[in-house]
Amino acid sequence: MTQHQRLLIIDFGSQVTQLIARRLRELNVYCEIHPYQNVTDAFLADFAPQAIIFSGGPDSVTREGSPRPPQSAYTMGVPILGICYGQQVMMQDLGGLVEAGQSHTAEFGRAYVTPAAQKLSILEGWFEGEGKDAGREQVWMSHGDHVSRLAPGFEVYGTSPGAPFAITADLARNFYAVQFHPEVHHTPNGAKLYENFIRLAGFTGDWTMAGYRQQAIEQIRAQVGKSHVICGLSGGVDSSVTAILLHEAIGDQLTCVFVDHGLLRLGEAEQVVAMFRDNYNIKLIAADESDLFLGALEGVSDPEVKRKTIGKLFIDVFQKYANEIEDAEFLAQGTLYPDVIESVSFSGGPSVTIKSHHNVGGLPEKMGLKLVEPLRELFKDEVRALGRELGLPESFIGRHPFPGPGLAIRCPGEITREKLEILRKADAVYIDQIRKHGLYDEIWQAFVAILPVKTVGVMGDGRTYDYACALRAVTSVDGMTADYYPFSHEFLGETATRIINEVKGINRVTYDITSKPPGTIEWE
Ligand code: XMP
Repeated sequence: MTQHQRLLIIDFGSQVTQLIARRLRELNVYCEIHPYQNVTDAFLADFAPQAIIFSGGPDSVTREGSPRPPQSAYTMGVPILGICYGQQVMMQDLGGLVEAGQSHTAEFGRAYVTPAAQKLSILEGWFEGEGKDAGREQVWMSHGDHVSRLAPGFEVYGTSPGAPFAITADLARNFYAVQFHPEVHHTPNGAKLYENFIRLAGFTGDWTMAGYRQQAIEQIRAQVGKSHVICGLSGGVDSSVTAILLHEAIGDQLTCVFVDHGLLRLGEAEQVVAMFRDNYNIKLIAADESDLFLGALEGVSDPEVKRKTIGKLFIDVFQKYANEIEDAEFLAQGTLYPDVIESVSFSGGPSVTIKSHHNVGGLPEKMGLKLVEPLRELFKDEVRALGRELGLPESFIGRHPFPGPGLAIRCPGEITREKLEILRKADAVYIDQIRKHGLYDEIWQAFVAILPVKTVGVMGDGRTYDYACALRAVTSVDGMTADYYPFSHEFLGETATRIINEVKGINRVTYDITSKPPGTIEWE
């Protein structure tokens, strides 16, 4: 159990509920998102939030049986902020009126709110713009229904053309309700509204990484006791932070397993071993299983067969090494908060979304191991902050994501050792170029794919017949959508020249300018 001040977000199914949590975490406030179905009176009493936020949601409060918070939310004496559907729920529950959507009151997208005569503390710092924005504030609306009569005790503090009750509050009870979404980027001053709300709710901003580190260490010790823990290392930031945190908590009771499947980048296996075994003195089994994996992949060119082959072998190999560790009772995983948030499901009960590649293919059940997941309360950027707190070098923390199947999915067609070797060298030159030009941190992911075609070229006085490759670089926030990175022509030209000059086996370089969708980031 965390000892921090806690805020509860009751999720009514909005697409952007996670962004509310992000905004609050940025303000050093600890919060959890729970789907409305799970938030009972008993849950609320046990959770003991210092404030509550009702999220938006797709349903209509005018529909019988639509989602509601428990009534005790209104009587426990804590501030509440209702957003969009959350505002409408509040009005309906407390005696106001909500009407189903009509075309002239529905608002989707950008809108401008103007203030009422009275000032409101959660709007401090609002309406201070100049020029065309004088006296108004841009907000993001997304509602069909609208409040047509306020609940007793509420007053209006801001209006927009389609929402006469855009900002409302009952100051006696500290209830605030807005029709728009302050958590999204398109409400530029939204973060300020959250900041004001949590300040008036008495939050001191006690959710810091130094505090989290201490607390996580105590929790790990309490959970694990004298048992041994196995941690799979991939070289990525999540598993690295997990391992270092565990090591700080339980020292030699931790053994890490790093499987080199022969599909890693240039020097990557050596770097991981040097970092963990040599620098941190962590017990590490570094298994070079490249012959096994590359052998099994011989002649395979179908992308799905490649992935399945690698996935299955990985589990077998990991299990083989894990079995060598005596008294192992726990498996550590770098599961993050977005992977464990229970999402609201309208087709049935709440459903838990866990990405399959995080749960090493059901290994814990298969081996009878219990899970330790010390990052499951954190977002990705918080994991990075924790990594910094733990002293991980910046070069590890800021690394681009790298897929589990590794270079296999950057080598369309059949995988050969020769092609992998060429790919590694070309990739290293490309990344070196990106770093030298100071672009690495602006790019979400960059890599080379070696193409299954050879092309004719001319070098010196001779004809060449070598592989073509494609450079890929994308910007993204979560990997779900992506855009190609707009390198300058100079950069591309210089990089192509360097690759062709420095990497034997490549005589043609192309740049992939496909966005996602319709493309994917990886080539397979
Ligand atoms: P795509 O290619 O689907 O990739 O646009 C989106 C993000 O996911 C990574 N990726 C994977 N990561 N196992 C992983 O751990 C996989 O099988 C896998 N496939 C894709 C990819 O690198 C990108 O960051």
